[in-house]
Amino acid sequence: MFVRRAVTVDAGPTKHKHAPASFDTLRPMIITIDGPAGSGKSTAARNLAGALGIACLDTGATYRAVTLLALRSEIDLADETALAELARTMDLDMNLTPHGLQVLLDGDDISLDIRSEAVSEASHLAARSPVVRGVLVDLQRRIGGSLGSFVAEGRDQGTVVFPDADTKFFLTASPDVRARRRVEQLAAQGETAEVDQVRQRIIDRDRRDSTRSIAPLKPADDAIHLCTDGQTPDETLATLLSHVKADA
Ligand code: DC
Repeated sequence: MFVRRAVTVDAGPTKHKHAPASFDTLRPMIITIDGPAGSGKSTAARNLAGALGIACLDTGATYRAVTLLALRSEIDLADETALAELARTMDLDMNLTPHGLQVLLDGDDISLDIRSEAVSEASHLAARSPVVRGVLVDLQRRIGGSLGSFVAEGRDQGTVVFPDADTKFFLTASPDVRARRRVEQLAAQGETAEVDQVRQRIIDRDRRDSTRSIAPLKPADDAIHLCTDGQTPDETLATLLSHVKADA
């Protein structure tokens, strides 16, 4: 089977008014943003990439795509070998559009399907498998290699996937804030959820992510820590940009 893993970066977002003026002239730059679900890292990564006019690599989408494919194919998510085979052979395209990330699986737009609560709940099974991680880390590095400068967002970007990144961030937020953000995000997708339940699931997921033996969620030694509680996306962006500027 011919496996296409092209990543198309369409018309990129326009540069942000706070972007370092000299950014264009610099060598390719890798910025990583890691942190738990709901810490605001996806928004922060998208905004930062948009402000700098560079690509944004959402690595969670790769774990979510494998999970969705397994659920659709009724493959046992505990079967690591089968999951790794799916990861190796899936036909995944990620197109960065001015409206956000479009994820295509076998040509079908799965951008919304991979954000469902079912996929969110099951994706830790793919994420905890060393063989699946091996395949997806290779894929993420290949994608990164094709992008020039980019912002990579995930759990292990600064520690495992791009340990030599120029600037590394680790974002956090309290479980309460993260649960509220998640409920709002689900509501926007037409799904309803109880804040208390979501908060408990977030706490459970954190425990699983940070105690797993492979690539546990933890900050890189040289990561800049930011808590996004009470911060607007613009305030977070301004802080990120000030650090990127300082490192440039
Ligand atoms: O960031 P997210 O919620 O889209 O991530 C989906 C799943 O993939 C979640 O279980 C965490 C996992 N993940 C990971 O282990 N490593 C990454 N680099 C990105 C995501």
